[in-house]
Amino acid sequence: MIVAEKISDVRKNVAEWKKQGLTVGLVPTMGYLHEGHASLVDKAVSECDKVVVSDFVNPTQFGPNEDLAKYPRDFESDCKLLEAHGATLVFHPSVEEMYPENAATFVEILNDMPKKLCGKTRPIHFRGVCTVVSKLFNIVTPDKAFFGMKDAQQLSIIKKMVRDMSYGIEIIGCPIIREDDGLAKSSRNTYLSPEERMAATILSKAVFEGKKMVENGEKNVQTILDAQTKIIESEPLAKIDYVSAVDFSTLEDAAEVKPDTLFAMAVYIGTTRLIDNFLA
Ligand code: PAJ
Repeated sequence: MIVAEKISDVRKNVAEWKKQGLTVGLVPTMGYLHEGHASLVDKAVSECDKVVVSDFVNPTQFGPNEDLAKYPRDFESDCKLLEAHGATLVFHPSVEEMYPENAATFVEILNDMPKKLCGKTRPIHFRGVCTVVSKLFNIVTPDKAFFGMKDAQQLSIIKKMVRDMSYGIEIIGCPIIREDDGLAKSSRNTYLSPEERMAATILSKAVFEGKKMVENGEKNVQTILDAQTKIIESEPLAKIDYVSAVDFSTLEDAAEVKPDTLFAMAVYIGTTRLIDNFLA
């Protein structure tokens, strides 16, 4: 596996592959990789000749009071996982490489999509995500890019950005990978104490209950949200940020369950904010 820290090295490799007529897949990550990330790499390897994984904790998507400084990192272990899953190249740039001094250009969606759901508590988050993903698209020029449904709002926003900006990159959404007890895998799960780790299963319990209600034909969104809220409120360590239902492509509030209705939640377990969701 090639390890590249410089944008120019990525470009050189990609140019060589394209000369050979090979297809390129991109999996953007912030590192501290787990089986959720690995599933995206597997999917990319199965669909593309060469797979680039970016491993970069992107400062512009963290708010001033968020966890940028303590975000977990372990590049050596990331490389082992990526190599085992058949990635071709890992791009591990410094902050200076990605954001030259006085960088002042951002990519931002100006409708309400970045203000919904997680955007309420993280107002600059999706501007940072769109900017860094946009840069990665320009650096790697992939045929396909792979994102997890775990971050459903992010996936919806990236799809919108790609349409609006004519990127010509196919965006592939991949299913949420969970621990055996249901908790969605996340680099942030490492913040949880053993007691909090147990309490954190309340998110997936609420997700599975909502899913079951939809499968049983419930059409009223509020009935489902109320049931999910009740479950989460039964856990003393949990504090709801939001439990909402929106249309997956527009992120507009949903009143009635339709095939593309996204049921999404963000819940604090202690000081750790966790997210989970399901698509009807
Ligand atoms: P990160 O949180 O590292 O996630 C990288 C990718 O892995 C995202 O597409 C995310 O949805 C996916 N992912 C994380 N946990 C998953 C799980 N349990 N199952 C399936 N997929 C999972 O998302 C980011 O980084 C950043 O915002 C990024 C897009 C890299 C921009 O900085």
